[in-house]
Amino acid sequence: MKVLGIVAGPRKTGHTARLVEETLKGAEEAGHETVLYYLSDMEIKPLDEGENGYSYPEDGFTELMPHIESMGALVLGTPIYYDHVSSRAKLFIDRLYYYSRSHGEEYRKKFPDGVKFVNAVTCGWDRADVYDEVVKWLNGRMTNYWNMSVHGSLKAHGTGNNPVKENEKLLKKAKDLGRSL
Ligand SMILES: Cc1cc2nc3c(=O)[nH]c(=O)nc-3n(C[C@H](O)[C@H](O)[C@H](O)COP(=O)(O)O)c2cc1C
Repeated sequence: MKVLGIVAGPRKTGHTARLVEETLKGAEEAGHETVLYYLSDMEIKPLDEGENGYSYPEDGFTELMPHIESMGALVLGTPIYYDHVSSRAKLFIDRLYYYSRSHGEEYRKKFPDGVKFVNAVTCGWDRADVYDEVVKWLNGRMTNYWNMSVHGSLKAHGTGNNPVKENEKLLKKAKDLGRSL
């Protein structure tokens, strides 16, 4: 199975990247193929207006499409920015509109069924339950619109004082989650 990892924060050595990378390591140990993209390396634009309503820009997302269309699991990591997912994460989700029923059944069919979804959310606020609503929102979008099944959630809070790279318990959870995919 192909596991697609997406890091939607700007920092390749940041907390979010570390969590996604560890999950992918676990998935590799379990024999899965992994592909990792840092959205900060790519230009992904918002939807545009087109002849039949919307058009989909030719940009970094085009490179992601073959992986999206062949993935068995998606690991999406985002830092919390102003109480929600990062703009990079939101743009990634917006661009999945290409695969929505609203665009057309033939496009919807290109999206694999039953993709396992893992979210990795990191935030500075040191309170464990603080962004549970955001995690719920993220999981809800993936299940409702693209029929994914939520496989697990990883959350790092208080990352300023408790960096992910030193949080062995969380890193183990991430690797175990990857192995269990
Ligand atoms: C622009 C910006 C906005 C942020 N907003 C919040 C916030 O609303 N709540 C919070 O707990 N942390 C907030 N943070 C902190 C980040 O979520 C936190 O440091 C995160 O772990 C960074 O992930 P990274 O290391 O992958 O970049 C913000 C950071 C930035 C740069």
